[in-house]
Amino acid sequence: MKKLRFGLFENAQTNDSGTSTWRHPDSQRHLFDTLGYWREIARICEDAKLDFLFLADAWGWADVKGQRPEICSLEGLDLPRLDPAIVAAAIVGATSKLGLVITGSTLLEQPYAFARRMQSLDHLSGGRVGWNVVTTGTAETAVAAFGVPMVAHDARYDMADDFMELVYKLFEGAWEAGSLERDKAGRFADPSKVHAIAHDGPFFRSHGYGNTNYSPQGTPVLFQAGSSDRGRQFGGRHGECVFLGGGSIEKLASQVKSIREEAEANGRDGNSIKIMSAFSCVVASTEAEAQRKHREILDAQTPEVAVASYAWFTGLDLSSYDPATKMSALHTELSQTQVARFGDKTVGDVLKDWHAHGVRTNPFVGTPEQIADIMCEMAEGADLDGFLFTPLIQPASTIDFVAQVLPVLRARGVAATDYEGETLRERLLGTPTPVLRDDHPGSGYRSLSA
Ligand SMILES: Cc1cc2nc3c(=O)[nH]c(=O)nc-3n(C[C@H](O)[C@H](O)[C@H](O)COP(=O)(O)O)c2cc1C
Repeated sequence: MKKLRFGLFENAQTNDSGTSTWRHPDSQRHLFDTLGYWREIARICEDAKLDFLFLADAWGWADVKGQRPEICSLEGLDLPRLDPAIVAAAIVGATSKLGLVITGSTLLEQPYAFARRMQSLDHLSGGRVGWNVVTTGTAETAVAAFGVPMVAHDARYDMADDFMELVYKLFEGAWEAGSLERDKAGRFADPSKVHAIAHDGPFFRSHGYGNTNYSPQGTPVLFQAGSSDRGRQFGGRHGECVFLGGGSIEKLASQVKSIREEAEANGRDGNSIKIMSAFSCVVASTEAEAQRKHREILDAQTPEVAVASYAWFTGLDLSSYDPATKMSALHTELSQTQVARFGDKTVGDVLKDWHAHGVRTNPFVGTPEQIADIMCEMAEGADLDGFLFTPLIQPASTIDFVAQVLPVLRARGVAATDYEGETLRERLLGTPTPVLRDDHPGSGYRSLSA
């Protein structure tokens, strides 16, 4: 079995993933806006030799019946949050190996400024940065806040393709690697290695010089997680590491196969894409104790949270439908994944499910050996490359996972015992150099410098 890679899912807000567990006695996430919290998380990740810390992000808030419900403030549901790039910058100096993956929206960011932010992080971290490219599924309230027009689901991916083309020019072509000479007796940079870019796309335009020089990885490692048809096409073209939401081994296996096929259709080696499934667990030395811990977590939140948070992801107010309505009768221009995943279930079933785990799938509950068995079965059965550990309670769930489950996986030889490779790309993707592989479409933009 191949050696698995591990990331930790985090979110710079008091709750995440559509659940509200901040009241749980072990949760420290109410301190999300303090440097101490993030330093502690980074220390736990690096001590455990996790490959990366992933910072999710979103814009907007739940908008049930046109009103921002009180529940969002009372439970800290979607707001307030911190900017993940700033959190990552604050962690850089407290870590030396940990990858730092931030989420950035191609709907709401400005590509020219965003490219500079990513390059700056890549420089300061010595090539440890990744970007989770999102088109912002929760867009309706977000576009209102930004004062920009709404863009339909598939068109958001067309916009994302255009965004990528422009940032590839900035990441790869504007300043060649090695353009800075820093020679006080000679010159600072070699002007023949600095190139003006020109981009006139359907959504974005930019002309002139890049604001930042070539960073250690050139393009940050590209993560992607859209699982709609259009989202998978986008991932097959641009993604280097793709996150899946979890589910049965059969479902994961078919998603993995289709992502690898999509990559091949784009002239890429399908096996070069690393595919990691989100994974939650509640672990204890006995099954009964693990079940007790899980019940305690479920009791930490209220059913009202489920209605508000589902509406945020999909724009659909499930409380306004007959509970017997089939989910297959509903449509959204927001996150289609969060409607399609429930197939033929009823609205009533989904509200119960969402209360239990929100956007996540059900956590696995059991002893360290049982959890390790499931992870190995999933990885082998679905051809996964690793897991994005998605804690229910922070940092308690992560401490449990790294202290109890990781050692079992290490003893079985499927988890690394130390960091290998300097940059995030070399370590996570096993590339021979820190930059994009030659079969990745972004590498073609180096020819600006030809
Ligand atoms: C593990 C995981 C993490 C995700 N993190 C984010 C995130 O931080 N921000 C976001 O807007 N969407 C996030 N998503 C959602 C997807 O990126 C995507 O936007 C969503 O599935 C809607 O796109 P689709 O309709 O193409 O599936 C995540 C999905 C998964 C499975």
